[in-house]
Amino acid sequence: MCGIVGYIGNRDAYPVIMKGLQRLEYRGYDSAGIALYDGNELNLCKTKGKVADLKKLCDETTSTKGHVGIGHTRWATHGIPNDVNSHPHYSNSGNLVIIHNGIIENYATIKKELIKRGYSFQSDTDTEVLVNLIEDVMINEDVKLGKAMQIALNQAVGAYAITVFDKRKPNELVVARLGSPLAIGIGENEFFIASDASPFIEFTSNAIYLEDGEMAVIRLGKQIKVRKIQDDSLVDPYIQELQLNLEQIEKNGYEHFMLKEIYEQPSAITDTYRGRMLANEGIIRMAGVDDNIERLANAKRIIVVACGTSWHAGLVSEYIFEDLARIPVEVEYASEFRYRNPVIYENDVVIAISQSGETADTMAAIKLAKEKGAFVFGVCNVVGSSISRESHAGAYTHAGPEIGVASTKAFTTQITVLTLIALKLAKYKGTISDSTFRLHLQELDRIPEKVAKVLETNEHIKIIADKYKDVSNCLYLGRGYNFPVALEGALKLKEISYIHAEGYPAAEMKHGPIALIDEQMPVVVIATNKGHYDKVVSNVQEIKSRKGKIIGIVTEGDEAVRELADYVIEVPDTIESLTPLLTTIPLQLLSYHIAVMLGKNVDQPRNLAKSVTVE
Ligand code: F6R
Repeated sequence: MCGIVGYIGNRDAYPVIMKGLQRLEYRGYDSAGIALYDGNELNLCKTKGKVADLKKLCDETTSTKGHVGIGHTRWATHGIPNDVNSHPHYSNSGNLVIIHNGIIENYATIKKELIKRGYSFQSDTDTEVLVNLIEDVMINEDVKLGKAMQIALNQAVGAYAITVFDKRKPNELVVARLGSPLAIGIGENEFFIASDASPFIEFTSNAIYLEDGEMAVIRLGKQIKVRKIQDDSLVDPYIQELQLNLEQIEKNGYEHFMLKEIYEQPSAITDTYRGRMLANEGIIRMAGVDDNIERLANAKRIIVVACGTSWHAGLVSEYIFEDLARIPVEVEYASEFRYRNPVIYENDVVIAISQSGETADTMAAIKLAKEKGAFVFGVCNVVGSSISRESHAGAYTHAGPEIGVASTKAFTTQITVLTLIALKLAKYKGTISDSTFRLHLQELDRIPEKVAKVLETNEHIKIIADKYKDVSNCLYLGRGYNFPVALEGALKLKEISYIHAEGYPAAEMKHGPIALIDEQMPVVVIATNKGHYDKVVSNVQEIKSRKGKIIGIVTEGDEAVRELADYVIEVPDTIESLTPLLTTIPLQLLSYHIAVMLGKNVDQPRNLAKSVTVE
C-alpha cells in the first residue's frame, strides 16, 4: 500500500505534492513525508500521523521552496509507524532520496551485505535498504541513477512502485514499478508522478501508466524514456487520455467520502448498466462478454477469486450464475486460492473481482489461474488497473473513484455487472425464458430509483444507530441471496466502528450462534418477502424468545417481522436476485452512523488501507 507523489516542473512543488498526498491518503495514513530540493538543499520533513500533521510540521519547520520534490503517505509493512520509518529515505551519502510503495522481501539479506560494506541504517524499513543498494551500485559500477536502479531492482525480490531523486541531477526523477501502481502525468514541460491519477487530474489529463517490470527516466525538456527493468529494452509508452474529473474525487459537501459514495449508488448503478443494457428492447451488450461468449457460456465451472467486500459480491454472483445461467460456481478467497494447489481445468473461467484492480492476492490468484490455462475475466472499477490489464477480458464497474476505505458503491456496482453477465450467459445458453430475461432487465432498470428510496430512510436509521451504538457485538443474518449481504453488513460495522460483528446464514443460527443471543445482542435480520421468508420469520421468532434485539430489513408493507422486531427498515419490493442491491444500503448507513456517533474516523479506519498491494 502507501501513496506516492512526485513533481518536477515550474510550479512550486510543495502545494502540488501536499494536495496529492491528501488525495492518496486512502492508500495509507499512519505516517507521511516530503522531500523538496530548493536549488541548494534537499529538505526533508516527515512524521508519524496523517498528511494534515505533516503539513503543519512542514509549514512550521521546513523550507517548502522548490520545483522538484517527492512525497509519501504510508501504511506500514516493515517497521512500525514512527517518524524515522516514514518516507522519504536518504541514502548514506545524502545524495539520493526515495519513496516506495510495496515490500522488498529479501531486504534483510541485502541489508547484511551493505552493513558489511560499511553502510548504516536509521530506520527498520526495507526502503532505506533499497536506496542504499542503488547508491552502492552507482559507486561500485560507476553508473548513473537510472542504470543503478535497474541493476539494484534486478537483485530485489518483491513488489514496488518507487521514485528516486538524486540532488546532483535536479532536473530528473527516476521511477519504477513491479506489482504496485504508478502513473506519470504529462504536462507542459512538467511531470507528475502518483500512485493513481487523482493528484494531478487538475493539471493534466495525459498520463502514462507504467506496466509491471518497467522503469522510466523523467527529465525536464526531454521525452520520457521507458525501459524494461529486466533486459533494458526500450518500450514505446502509451499516453492515455484520462476521463476522471476533479468533482468526482472531492467530497461535494458530504461530511465523509463514505457517505458521499453511499449516496452516489443510484447514479453509480445507472452508470454501470448505461449503454450496456437496453431494458425495453431486451438487449445486453458488453464487449468483454460478447467477444468471448463461447468461452464464457461453455465454461464447465466459474471460479470467483476476490478479497473482502469484493469476495462478498462474488458470493452474491454464485447465486445469480447458478440460478440463471446454470453454471457451477466456486467462490474463493484469493489469498487461500493462490497458496493451495487448486485444480483448474482449461475450460474453467476465473472471474477476478476487485475495486482497485491492484489487490496483490487477487492479482497472484489470476496469474496462477492463467498459468494453469484458465480464461480470466476481470471485474474492476479502476480503469487501466493491474488486474484489468492482466485479465484476458473484463468489464469495468464504472462506479467512479471510491475513496472511503470501506467499500460501498463498489459492492453494488460489482453485483450489477455480475448480474448483467449472468443474464447475458443465461440468455445465450437458453437457461432462462425470454420473459424472465426481460423481467430482470426491467427490474434492474428500476433499481436506482429504489435505492434512492432506501436512502430516504436515513433519518430513521440514525435513530436505530443511536440506540445500538454502544453495543460490543452484533449479529447479522440473511438467507440465499441475502446471506452474503449479512456478511457484508457485519464487515462494514467491524471495519469502521470497531464493534465485533458476525454474519451468518439465518438457518445456521441454531447450530451455534444462537448461544450468543441475550437481551444485549442486536441481531440484524434481512427478511425480504422473497426466498425463504417464512423460514426467516421463524428465525426472528427464535431470537425474540431469547430476548435478542431485532432490527429487520424488510420489504415495504411487511407485517410479520414488524410485529416481532424492535425496529424495521423497509426496502421496496423487487425480484429476489436483485434484493441485495437494496438490502445492502441500510446496512451501510447503519454502520456509517454508528461509527460517526462513536467519533471514529470513517474514511480512514485504523489499520486499514484502500488498496492492499501487499500479501
Ligand atoms: C471492505 C474493503 C475491503 C476490500 C478488499 C478488496 O470495505 O474495502 O475488504 O473489499 O480489500 O479490495 P479490492 O476490491 O480493491 O480488490
